[in-house]
Amino acid sequence: MKVLIIGSGGREHAIAVSMAKSSRVDKLYCIPGNAGIAQIAECDPSIGVMEFDRITAYAGEHEIDLVFVAPDDPLAGGLVDELEEAGFRVFGPNKKAAILESSKAFSKDLMKKYNIPTAGYETFDNPENALAYLEKAEMPVVLKADGLALGKGVLICNTLEEARAGVREIMQDKHFGSAGDKLVVEEFLTGREVSVLAFVDGKTVIPMTSAQDHKRAGDGDQGPNTGGMGCFSPSPFYTGEVDAFCRRHIYQPTVDAMRAEGREFKGVIFFGLMLTPQGPKVLEYNARFGDPEAQVVLCRMKNDIMDVVDACIDSRLDEINLEFEDNAAVCVVLASEGYPVSYQKGFEITGLERFQEREEYYCFHAGTRADEEGRIVTNGGRVLGVTAKSATLQEARAKAYEAAEWISFGNKYMRRDIGRAIDEA
Ligand code: AMP
Ligand code: GLY
Repeated sequence: MKVLIIGSGGREHAIAVSMAKSSRVDKLYCIPGNAGIAQIAECDPSIGVMEFDRITAYAGEHEIDLVFVAPDDPLAGGLVDELEEAGFRVFGPNKKAAILESSKAFSKDLMKKYNIPTAGYETFDNPENALAYLEKAEMPVVLKADGLALGKGVLICNTLEEARAGVREIMQDKHFGSAGDKLVVEEFLTGREVSVLAFVDGKTVIPMTSAQDHKRAGDGDQGPNTGGMGCFSPSPFYTGEVDAFCRRHIYQPTVDAMRAEGREFKGVIFFGLMLTPQGPKVLEYNARFGDPEAQVVLCRMKNDIMDVVDACIDSRLDEINLEFEDNAAVCVVLASEGYPVSYQKGFEITGLERFQEREEYYCFHAGTRADEEGRIVTNGGRVLGVTAKSATLQEARAKAYEAAEWISFGNKYMRRDIGRAIDEA
């Protein structure tokens, strides 16, 4: 099989590494890719993920058998639909189903209609009504831009002043562009956060092992929200009892609801959960693998990923026995100092060779590229996802931080407390 992956982050590198292990994959391609993915796949960095015509033409020229669309923007924009219309076999939700992530107003209404546990909320399409509502609302309150905002369109407001400023930022100043045309105002929930990714074939849903990411830039969960600064898997707080509840009241009902709405979902659903004192509730859905969740989950999966991908596309996921290793993984993101606000790029990265032939250590590339002399240099905010596996979370964390020291580059920055929650379990 010739497989084309769409995307360029650590998530796509982790997907590529899993696919490269499959006996069924002859050749991997990636658009646009990065320097790490280029070691195992033919990449075309000149094509962007939103250039649907060029992607379709590339798939034709290279006689691609399967396209895996990983990032949110092309999923929300309908790349899957366009490739399918052109006759390609594609993994990922179509545009109608990807709305589960691309509109928070849609997903909240879906949960309400189908009784799926989530925070209470109201939706507004004009700022005056939102402000009037907030005058009487209980604080803290959570404001969410309706559309895609790189994971940054969520504001937790402790006071009415902050909430007013938030409405201005999202709906009037349009910090997140048209994503802020609608606003969801949500009840503030407390508890442990857990991410559960699940394969879905339209009818059947099979959850993968759990994970927890660290969204804030600084230690102690301080500073601005990022795409994710590190991750661990499994979450010690995701017990068998929590899993049973979520399968019954969240995972299957969500998939059934999408089908009932005429929006059959095939691909991966990412359930962002809060384990509240009243039980698990959905914080958000994503219509794709998480980044860096994919990095800690896929390296623990025992199945051939292509078997699972095929079963999702052909609606025979009930035939799959999804299995994970009985161990743990931790990913520490090495970022450029200043991310997510502003940072420099183009610094040479050294030490990458130390990961070669070392079992249980992985260095997933995110923002990297090869320069004119063939050196690998930094090319983004999140640069690398240094990941290690071991029997326990504590050991995996120690190994990930050990390996994080093997790498050097200008303005290297990482959080020092990835997986601290493990010690509280
Ligand atoms: P989201 O992009 O919806 O996952 O939100 C980003 C982050 O904001 C989540 O990971 C939570 O930490 C926080 N968050 C979102 N919704 C709520 C809520 N209703 N209550 C408390 N925290 C929330
Ligand atoms: N790590 C969170 C996300 O991928 O959205």
